[in-house]
Amino acid sequence: MRTVTTRAELEAALAAHERPRALVPTMGALHAGHAALISTARRHAATVVVSLFVNPLQFGSATDLARYPRTLDADARLAEASGADVLFAPAVEEMYPPTEVIPTINPGPLAVRLEGASRPGHFAGVATVVSRLFDLVHPDLALFGEKDAQQVRVVEWLAAQRSDQIRIMRVATVRDRDGLALSSRNQRLSQHGRQSAARTIPVALSLVAEAYASGVRSVGTLRALAERVIASEPSVELDYLDFANGDSLAPLPDSKELHDTGADPILVSLAAVVDSVRLIDAITIP
Ligand code: PAF
Repeated sequence: MRTVTTRAELEAALAAHERPRALVPTMGALHAGHAALISTARRHAATVVVSLFVNPLQFGSATDLARYPRTLDADARLAEASGADVLFAPAVEEMYPPTEVIPTINPGPLAVRLEGASRPGHFAGVATVVSRLFDLVHPDLALFGEKDAQQVRVVEWLAAQRSDQIRIMRVATVRDRDGLALSSRNQRLSQHGRQSAARTIPVALSLVAEAYASGVRSVGTLRALAERVIASEPSVELDYLDFANGDSLAPLPDSKELHDTGADPILVSLAAVVDSVRLIDAITIP
């Protein structure tokens, strides 16, 4: 694997590799979830590029940005072991040269609710960096984790607006043994916070899936089941627990009976704050 930090080095490295080319965009602090993205990319492409860039444009606060873990050496080892050919790890000035006007990319209609409402500007930052990475790497496909369910839909929308026909591939969420979805942010949880999060967030979502599988169709009933689990741990502060059409992300009200939502999958997503760490998780039913 070759690690490059400038756009010129990236271009030279890419010229030496064949297509199809896959891109796995990351912000580093890589874990088994990223390894799954990279190894899936390996199975679908001749060349796998992993980008590692902590994108300042998608952070709401300077403190959150400063606290984001930075573990380049370990990340390079994991990327290589998972099958990456090129690791692109640019500095901020390389991605956003001060001499260039960087147009903010509109993240589109799917970015308005959920994380978009709780974190104003977040998806514009994501759309801007992902577009820039697409322009620099020119991938045939790009891979994103399903844990960030809204991000995947926003990126799919973004890719559909472009003329270069980049295929967006979703990769299933990887969970720890306690059920918590892997996230770079988990490192910042205290032991108690971690236990509280694991006892509530994945449990609430599984309960919804199980209740749905056993025939419960009322959004209100499913929501109440999940909310009861979250409320059982006072240290877990729920931001939202949302039922939506998995395609349009249109919200499904409590009065909705799920058998009349048509063929589209239903996205159940939640965000909660534990130890001041914002955690998100999601499942799709059926
Ligand atoms: O999911 C992430 O890690 C980031 O939002 C992404 C897609 C790498 C853009 O910075």
